[in-house]
Amino acid sequence: MRLLVCGGAGFIGSNFVRMRLQESGDEVVVLDKLTYAGREENFHDFAEEPSFRFVHGAIEDPQAVASALGGGGPLAGQPIEAIVNFAAETHVDRSIAEPDAFVRTHAQGTYVLLEAARGRDLRYLQVSTDEVYGSIEDGSFTEDSPLRPSSPYSATKTGADLLVQSYFHTYGLPATICRGSNNYGSYQYPEKLIPLMILNALHGDPLPIYGDGMQVRNWIHASDFGRAIGHVLEHGVPGEVYNAGGPDECANIQVVKRIIDLTGAQESLIEHVTDRPGHDRRYSLSSEKVRALGWEPRVRFAEGLEQTVAWYRENEWWWKPIRSGDYRAYYERQYGRTLA
Ligand code: NAD
Ligand code: DAU
Repeated sequence: MRLLVCGGAGFIGSNFVRMRLQESGDEVVVLDKLTYAGREENFHDFAEEPSFRFVHGAIEDPQAVASALGGGGPLAGQPIEAIVNFAAETHVDRSIAEPDAFVRTHAQGTYVLLEAARGRDLRYLQVSTDEVYGSIEDGSFTEDSPLRPSSPYSATKTGADLLVQSYFHTYGLPATICRGSNNYGSYQYPEKLIPLMILNALHGDPLPIYGDGMQVRNWIHASDFGRAIGHVLEHGVPGEVYNAGGPDECANIQVVKRIIDLTGAQESLIEHVTDRPGHDRRYSLSSEKVRALGWEPRVRFAEGLEQTVAWYRENEWWWKPIRSGDYRAYYERQYGRTLA
């Protein structure tokens, strides 16, 4: 397929593009604004492929979108067959501190993409999140569960999902939505729990756990989520939503203790800090609907976490410039302390 992948310079998007170029033989145009989380380094091993083109721009900019859909470069003149939209502001803590960019990218940005899509003969896939359902004490969310987002991040992602559905109902745009649970793996920006804890453990920095650390997340390896998105893109029914949850759930404190074991850090580095406002206690997704399309997760959490720790150990070239750059100022604002 010829794909336009928006937000393809980020964590999940770049893993998805790599997989599609290598395994599916797709041609891919990436449109990405390159925020702090979007990095050209994430293309280091496929930037020169003839079937890949990068356009630097924002999804809320109609000209950038038009140029990515038409444009010059190696894929010039060939119509795009599907848009996959990963582009988003993705960190809940940043959405609590500064919601502005979340509203702009998720509401205006999704609208501009949908407008560009509805005049063309192509499929549209919106990458979404389990956070749109809010928190669940027991059981798992299905696609029919009510939408009860808690944070500015999840509320604006919910708004984007509803806008996508309105374009299906009103204009017949063949759109699908794929909602994932918590992803982990290589190339994840170290503001998120797992890479933050791995790098802090490797540096002997404190490991800041929000509240009691008994919040539960349903971990999915980014390769499994990427394959689920591929299944929905190829076999999903237009207008439908598909959940893609990981095979394992784990409380945050247990995740951090496993990272301590894998890195050989001291357990005394654990520090319980002030809880996140409005913190969702537990996420859990039922993925029966996407499983019926032939997908299932392949990576168990214990194995995937070990591989992820090994990747961060071996790829200092990737995280060193991040950890010594703007991230330090973010870390000080968020945690009130300086990194080692
Ligand atoms: P990320 O923060 O690593 O990457 C986001 C990418 O979007 C970056 O490359 C950034 O530059 C780009 N971007 C941001 N605003 C943009 C704009 N206005 N125009 C163009 N590009 C823009 O995020 P991620 O973790 O890879 O998440 C990707 C998608 O998956 C998001 O839609 C997110 O909501 C969803 N998701 C993430 C998770 C998770 O656990 N990380 C789970 C489920 C769903
Ligand atoms: O569930 C899917 C969502 O997962 C995605 O939609 C989001 O884009 C992604 O960021 C992620 O959201 P979370 O808020 O669950 O992820 P985060 O890594 O920020 O936090 C995971 C858990 O760890 C959460 O309960 C908060 C806690 N935490 C996080 C950080 C950064 C800590 O205890 N300490 C920390 O320093």
